[in-house]
Amino acid sequence: MNKDILKRLFRSIDGKPDDDIVKVAYDIVKDEENKGHHLLSKQLKAILDQNVTTSKKLDNQLKDIFSISNNRLSKSKSFPLAVQIPREELRHHMVLSDDIENKFLLIEKEYVARERLAHFGLKPKQKILFYGPSGCGKSMGAERLAWNIGLPFYKVRFEAVISSFLGESLSNLKKLFDSINDFPCVLLLDEFDIIAKSRNYGQDVGEMHRLVNMVLFLLEEYKAPGLLIATTNLETSLDKAVFRRFDEVLEVKKPEEKEIYTLLKMTLSATKVSKEVNLKDYSKKLLGFSSAEIVKIAENASKLSVINNIEIINKIHLDTIIKEFARFNNNQ
Ligand SMILES: Nc1ncnc2c1ncn2[C@@H]1O[C@H](COP(=O)(O)OP(=O)(O)OP(=O)(O)O)[C@@H](O)[C@H]1O
Ligand SMILES: [Mg+2]
Repeated sequence: MNKDILKRLFRSIDGKPDDDIVKVAYDIVKDEENKGHHLLSKQLKAILDQNVTTSKKLDNQLKDIFSISNNRLSKSKSFPLAVQIPREELRHHMVLSDDIENKFLLIEKEYVARERLAHFGLKPKQKILFYGPSGCGKSMGAERLAWNIGLPFYKVRFEAVISSFLGESLSNLKKLFDSINDFPCVLLLDEFDIIAKSRNYGQDVGEMHRLVNMVLFLLEEYKAPGLLIATTNLETSLDKAVFRRFDEVLEVKKPEEKEIYTLLKMTLSATKVSKEVNLKDYSKKLLGFSSAEIVKIAENASKLSVINNIEIINKIHLDTIIKEFARFNNNQ
């Protein structure tokens, strides 16, 4: 296998020493050594050793945060502050316009080339803000970056931070950021809108103020080796103080005709589509819908065809579902 691909693969492996994947990886190291590829085998072992130990360390640190939240869960119905999404569950088959796709690719390429960039005193983009309408791929985009780069993925929910006892959450949030200081991962600050809404939040203003300041401080001070990604659909309410703390602010827009066509094709790939259905026409018809809605429309039409024992999607299936979605949108 190509050396660089092998190294990239190894960077994405994290786990405990007795996990199967880690054992297999150490076998590969031995195999490369036996083949006489001493340098490669050494490099792979170094990557693996680092990942396995830091993963263990992070596990212990995060256990703290989870256990505190879980204890509270039973008392005040709060949620954990952060959750890890396992690699196999990361959503990554995204459909984006060429323009946005290229921006995503650039973030990935810069991260992969971070060591080369460092030789020139340059740094990859590491703090990224996604904004745009609901259901168009902001959270999914963060997962895709983690998937493509091969980093573990953690998601922080601000709603959970706010809804728990604030003072304690501040120190938990700080702990979380401290714990990733030497641990390469993608940390997603989802629903970052809370920062924008904070000025007119009904809760104790002083407490909220402290939380906002703490987040701004953590953003400013962020020097961890991974990526920090925040998402919001309220970009107009974010003030300059927030914007300037990010290396890249990227709008994830609603899909255009070309993307809608690809989304439909992709989602309908497992079901037969009748010849009377012209997906190009439907792509025009569905302009204005979010990517999430288009995926759902296609899925629901597939289901309808199966339930009706036809197992081939025809116009009636698609039109029925689109009408339902349009009515729902008009009623909102
Ligand atoms: N660009 C995309 N390509 C393919 N599927 C997409 C895309 N955007 C959204 N989807 C579909 O919509 C679902 C929801 O997307 P996602 O969670 O990323 O939305 P979001 O922009 O974070 O919305 P919100 O602001 O409501 O959190 C995904 O699981 C996926 O099925
Ligand atoms: Mg989201």
